[in-house]
Amino acid sequence: MNREMIIVLDFGGQYNQLIARRVRECGVYAEVHPYTLSPERIRQMHPKGIIFTGGPDSVYLPDSPSCGSELFEMGIPILGICYGSQLMAYRLGGVVTTAPVSEYGHTSVTVDDPADVLWKGIASPTVVWMSHTDYIAAVPPGFHVTAHTDRCPTAAMSCPEKKFYAVQFHPEVMHTVQGKAMIRSFVYDVCGCSGDWKMDSFVESSIRTLRDKIGNGKVLCALSGGVDSSVAAVLLSKAVGRQLTCVFVDHGLLRKDEGDQVEAVFGPKGPYELNFIRVNAAGRFYEKLKGASEPEQKRRIIGEEFIRVFEEEAHKIGAVDYLVQGTIYPDVIESGLGKSAVIKSHHNVGGLPDIVDFKEIIEPLRMLFKDEVRAAGLELGLPSSLVMRQPFPGPGLGVRIVGEVTAEKVRIVQEADAIFREEIAAAGLERGLGQYFAALSNMRSVGVMGDFRTYDYAVVLRCVNTSDFMTADAAQLPWEVLSKVTSRIVNEVKGVNRVLYDCTGKPPATIELE
Ligand code: XMP
Repeated sequence: MNREMIIVLDFGGQYNQLIARRVRECGVYAEVHPYTLSPERIRQMHPKGIIFTGGPDSVYLPDSPSCGSELFEMGIPILGICYGSQLMAYRLGGVVTTAPVSEYGHTSVTVDDPADVLWKGIASPTVVWMSHTDYIAAVPPGFHVTAHTDRCPTAAMSCPEKKFYAVQFHPEVMHTVQGKAMIRSFVYDVCGCSGDWKMDSFVESSIRTLRDKIGNGKVLCALSGGVDSSVAAVLLSKAVGRQLTCVFVDHGLLRKDEGDQVEAVFGPKGPYELNFIRVNAAGRFYEKLKGASEPEQKRRIIGEEFIRVFEEEAHKIGAVDYLVQGTIYPDVIESGLGKSAVIKSHHNVGGLPDIVDFKEIIEPLRMLFKDEVRAAGLELGLPSSLVMRQPFPGPGLGVRIVGEVTAEKVRIVQEADAIFREEIAAAGLERGLGQYFAALSNMRSVGVMGDFRTYDYAVVLRCVNTSDFMTADAAQLPWEVLSKVTSRIVNEVKGVNRVLYDCTGKPPATIELE
């Protein structure tokens, strides 16, 4: 594929994914690679430009991540960010020094060269996001300072002749007011990109590539109804039609009517050409979950049973050539570059490759960020209700029912959750909230209904705002909404006499209850 591309060389910065995202938001394809990527490989990839990310190290430390001088001799434009800017300065003959105090947070920058391509059209001073202790004390030969702050003599420098640019701050984070404009100037005006990264061209070229690769082969996909596996399935269906079989395991732990909704889209009455197998396995899962109340044990049971059911279906289908997985780019970056290790043991189909007979895995979304997966889904005609869905954990309601799971508890939580979601939508709050759902505490308490004593369950409403799901704040929902939901739940859902709102943030709580 001859698509224009920017290589983001990762030196260990926490914002490496963001840099690639910002470039792609400008309509230019970007890939993140470890800083050890060889010059030969870089040459083969024909990048229009390279961006060095930030990183926690100091260029003078003996083991700090570095790059060979060859990189600066390829004639490829380079933008250095934070550590990347210091590395560029250091490698090209400038001086990097450690400041007595760090410069951190929102910082006012004064532009010294308004004619510089990165600063074009940006009024001085402007606010940027700084996070550094080392700084460039003297720029390398051929460079000049294009901006400074009170504490940092080189907030930005450039060498237009060689198309080398560097900024001490982080243009990729939102707090840098003109950051995106600067990235845009780099990719368009310095690297000469034309902006050929669009979802329709991705969809079109993926379909072509998948068709060429698969030929007459048989393809199997574990469809969960979640965004990633749904988009992957539709792409494959457009590419190879009935050579694709999707197995949808309904484990009885989905939200109300969700199984039917998935079937309406992917089943025989839906618009897509594929073989759809729905396995109604609720009974099996409830049976296995009997007596299990410890969260990790429940997760394990659900994960294992899922694989079991899938395996049985796969054996009925017989040998297949390809197994589809809905891996997306953040998963690739997190597991491939090995810098951060934060993820909890999530239920997914990671165990499948060992037990299903197939030749190769296909991961059609492995280069897409979540918002791009959504854009591709809309491009492919998937309903926006499915594409814009909130995250839903693999073990489903199994981790939203504290303690032992029973069919009765599943019914309660499904109904309460449906009411909660309906009322949030009716109040027009859907778009502004991170994630919201009803869960079931394992608590039963005394109440009074009519003239009778009740001894019923307490439903927990959970609603959080979050940007990355690693941390979250409890949302301050309007009281009228909470009381309406409460009144509907206690009146309409049998077995509930109390509704509680979870006001805890993450940390110390997690978003799900288990
Ligand atoms: P926690 O509960 O860890 O959840 O704060 C963070 C985000 O991850 C989702 N989540 C899961 N997603 N499989 C998934 O695919 C899982 O096992 C799982 N557990 C939690 C959760 O809904 C939230 O968005």
